[in-house]
Amino acid sequence: MSNRTTIGRTGLNVFKIGLGAGSVGNQMMYPNVTEETGKQLVKTALDQGINFIDTAYLYGLGRSEELIGEIIKERGGRDRLVISTKASPDFKFVDGVMEIDNSRPALRQAVEDSLARLQTDYLDVYFLHFPNTKTPLAEVAGTLAELKQAGKIKAIGVSNVTFDQLLEFNTDGHLDILQVQYSLLVREAEAEIIPYCLDNQISIIPFYPLADGLLAGKYTKNDTFNDMSRMNNPLFHGEAFLDNLYRVERLKAFALKKEVETAQVALAWLLTRPGVDIIIPGAKRPDQIESNIRTLDVHLSENEIHQINEMFGMKP
Ligand SMILES: NC(=O)c1ccc[n+]([C@@H]2O[C@H](COP(=O)([O-])OP(=O)(O)OC[C@H]3O[C@@H](n4cnc5c(N)ncnc54)[C@H](OP(=O)(O)O)[C@@H]3O)[C@@H](O)[C@H]2O)c1
Repeated sequence: MSNRTTIGRTGLNVFKIGLGAGSVGNQMMYPNVTEETGKQLVKTALDQGINFIDTAYLYGLGRSEELIGEIIKERGGRDRLVISTKASPDFKFVDGVMEIDNSRPALRQAVEDSLARLQTDYLDVYFLHFPNTKTPLAEVAGTLAELKQAGKIKAIGVSNVTFDQLLEFNTDGHLDILQVQYSLLVREAEAEIIPYCLDNQISIIPFYPLADGLLAGKYTKNDTFNDMSRMNNPLFHGEAFLDNLYRVERLKAFALKKEVETAQVALAWLLTRPGVDIIIPGAKRPDQIESNIRTLDVHLSENEIHQINEMFGMKP
């Protein structure tokens, strides 16, 4: 089986495992990951043949993009890379409520800023990171379509939308890729969002493919977390956390028997799902990237997929 694929209708040819660069240059969210480690993660990914890197303005308020830009500049070969980033112009919290400016001028400026930080003249995938209540989503999609027309971006994406918001964003059929939370532990997107994407040739890139590390099987009920991501993630709290650990224990036993790593089974399962062409697991250490790439050697039979679905108490 080939390790490369084309992302849906975008024509973008990628290695099936990308790098989720959420921890790169993002000490605000991940205080334990230094900039040097972040750069090492990107370099390891590129050395291992990964050519899709997913970042966002929000990851360190531009710092993740800057570090990735420096590495691309140093190494060259921009045309072999697929760079995905996300817009959240003027992101701030006001009285605990997230505010962003998704207006046409703000998005046009945000693209220019990302291009400058990434030291490139086009973005392969550009996502609207979050909707807001002020700018209608069909209007946002129209702005991104203009940017695509102008050659600034190659594919249009959106993330963190409900099903209704997805429909609104895609009023004029501009959407190429959806980024949605999707893993063995979070399968809500299967109800309406994924069937709609399949019907409308919209590709799906799951975020939190390892449920923020939970599906790697190394955490216990005694672990505590100091990163903003897990402190805000309901999967890591209370009864839900204990429930999740119980399911992951079963996945661990399955992986042990198959002589592969637990994270690899979780990722291999995701790659079997309709509409998912590529996955973008994140990492805190280079060896995690190397291990995640070896997912491509893990084959799951129909019967094994069925067993895994049962472990997670979902319909097959
Ligand atoms: N659109 C959005 O709003 C949105 C939201 C979230 C994420 N994203 C994107 O999706 C990407 C992936 O999500 P994520 O990085 O947050 O979470 P994830 O991929 O579900 O989990 C990544 C974490 O799991 C652990 N891990 C990874 N590989 C491992 C391995 N082989 N063995 C053991 N542990 C391993 C590491 O954390 P520890 O070592 O600390 O356990 C790593 O940081 C992000 O990087 C970002 O690009 C997008």
